[in-house]
Amino acid sequence: MKLLITGGAGFIGSNFIHYILKEYPSYRIVNLDALTYAGNLENLKEAENNPKYKFVKGNICDEKLVNELMKDIDIVVHFAAESHVDRSILNSGDFIKTNINGTHTLLEAAKNTGGKRFHHISTDEVYGSLGKNDPAFNEKTPYDPRSPYSASKASSDHLARAYFHTYNLPVTISNCSNNYGPYQFPEKLMPLFITNLMEGKKVPVYGTGENVRDWLFVEDHCRAIDKIIHQGKIGETYCVGGDCEKTNLEITREILKMMGKGEEAIEYVKDRPGHDKRYAIDFSKIKNELGWEPKISFEEGIKKTIEWYKNNQNWWRSIKSGNYKNYYKKQYGK
Ligand code: NAD
Ligand code: DAU
Repeated sequence: MKLLITGGAGFIGSNFIHYILKEYPSYRIVNLDALTYAGNLENLKEAENNPKYKFVKGNICDEKLVNELMKDIDIVVHFAAESHVDRSILNSGDFIKTNINGTHTLLEAAKNTGGKRFHHISTDEVYGSLGKNDPAFNEKTPYDPRSPYSASKASSDHLARAYFHTYNLPVTISNCSNNYGPYQFPEKLMPLFITNLMEGKKVPVYGTGENVRDWLFVEDHCRAIDKIIHQGKIGETYCVGGDCEKTNLEITREILKMMGKGEEAIEYVKDRPGHDKRYAIDFSKIKNELGWEPKISFEEGIKKTIEWYKNNQNWWRSIKSGNYKNYYKKQYGK
């Protein structure tokens, strides 16, 4: 089995590569990643010398490259995206290029090389924002994206589904809630707060901190993707979540407590424009049909995450200082 993994140098993609190399040692992996600010080859140091793993630096919008790579691939697992909501609010151009045009380029290549099995990784944000008492999102919830990021992801989901219906491309889609764990870029809530506290800085809580997210440890997400690419029904969408709704203040207080800090470390800052109030996922479909459910509790996951950031200070300090971009040059000499 040969997998084309896009965006494998990012947070979830690199965790997925480690997961596959461990669980399926006979599989071969090609990791196509443009190494944007979010791509970091240090995430894959342990895989570098594995003969089953190959890294290709390139853009998913590069038609020629993507067509070439697609030729002898069995499954595409498509993670590559611009993923940070705040960045999409400041400047959405790259979100449109990568998330929409890039996905389209990959789908075209998958279609034109004999109809490759294609798993598209998406987000719960495409469904919009829930009120306090609304039922959780499921696969039938109408799309209602409200940020340039979620609108671009919604668009890519529609394209993926269209390629299934129109061209019979064997597509599956998963819409997952907030992931956390090792290798998450320290611009996202959990790693930003954990590393700020280690640096003696404050943690910037947006607005009043009452927004709710549903948290899933990244390894559980990897297991869900494993289930879908091996047993998922072609043409279907699967919602993946952690059954772990928490307000941002609850998350913040948990991190403060575990790191021996008090409320004085919180700085309430201006809210994110259009800030979605609440996300929650009903994952009964993947549970009933594929037997997946989260295994790692929030208590265990957050403990593992904080420990990982404590034990891997070079990793995040080199990101925060900007030095991580030298790694590719050191390894590949260009
Ligand atoms: P990330 O930002 O950590 O990583 C994205 C990776 O994609 C980086 O390695 C980057 O270099 C690469 N990339 C970006 N543009 C590219 C391009 N044009 N060509 C090739 N590579 C490119 O993202 P993440 O948090 O790991 O998210 C991965 C996927 O999962 C995304 O599709 C995201 O929408 C989705 N998702 C993320 C979460 C989450 O909580 N992080 C939850 C649900 C879904
Ligand atoms: O729900 C899935 C999505 O989760 C993914 O599709 C996105 O790629 C991923 O980035 C994440 O989006 P969020 O916007 O939910 O994640 P973020 O870590 O940016 O923010 C989580 C919550 O914390 C959100 O309500 C905003 C708040 N926040 C975030 C930051 C960075 C703060 O209060 N302060 C901060 O500094």
